[in-house]
Amino acid sequence: MASGLFVAFEGGDGAGKSTQARALADALRQAGHEVVLTREPGGTPAAEAIRHVVLTPEFAGLDDRAEALLYAASRAEHVARLVRPALERGAVVITDRYIDSSIAYQGVGRGLGPDVVGEINLWATRSLLPDLTVLLDVDAGAGLARIGSEPDRLEAEPEEFHASVVAAFDALAAGDPDRYLVIPASGDVHEIAAAVLARVDGLLAERGVR
Ligand code: TYD
Repeated sequence: MASGLFVAFEGGDGAGKSTQARALADALRQAGHEVVLTREPGGTPAAEAIRHVVLTPEFAGLDDRAEALLYAASRAEHVARLVRPALERGAVVITDRYIDSSIAYQGVGRGLGPDVVGEINLWATRSLLPDLTVLLDVDAGAGLARIGSEPDRLEAEPEEFHASVVAAFDALAAGDPDRYLVIPASGDVHEIAAAVLARVDGLLAERGVR
């Protein structure tokens, strides 16, 4: 059984997840915890190779089901080789995106269906779910405005696509409020970081980890 703590950051494009994931990792390391900071798609050499395939604009017409399976394949590799072993050592694992991204982008954004995409991903990960998911809730228009001049294959989708993704994240959080911390992404970076750290400290204390 995993004994560490598994935290995922989720949200639409341009929500500031990467900054917050890094801030949490830094704070927990300073407090003396072993922290593994990682991201999806990616996190192992094979998963990073899959990342290239799903994100490069070179494969603009990639089939939707192939896309969903590639994200799931990347996640299976990531969980088996990096996430689960780290949790078994007792580490705190922080991932920038996880299963909810597939449910929101492929299940809802691409219209493949949230349930089937969720099931594929539970199979891929042998049902490993985060102890806490931090949802940085971004207004789709505001998030897209924060994206740079060279959008990846998903970022290049129209605003309606991103709006449906954001709504899907909100619905996931509403369905399981105990496992989510929902924070408006428009807030002050330091205040967001403090709120996340307070919640994670609480979870570590509950488990008797200091
Ligand atoms: P990334 O450069 O990591 O973007 P961000 O900083 O917004 O996380 O690119 C990941 C992209 O892949 C992002 O547009 C969301 C998308 N994605 C999916 O569509 N499904 C998934 O399962 C995951 C993990 C990401």
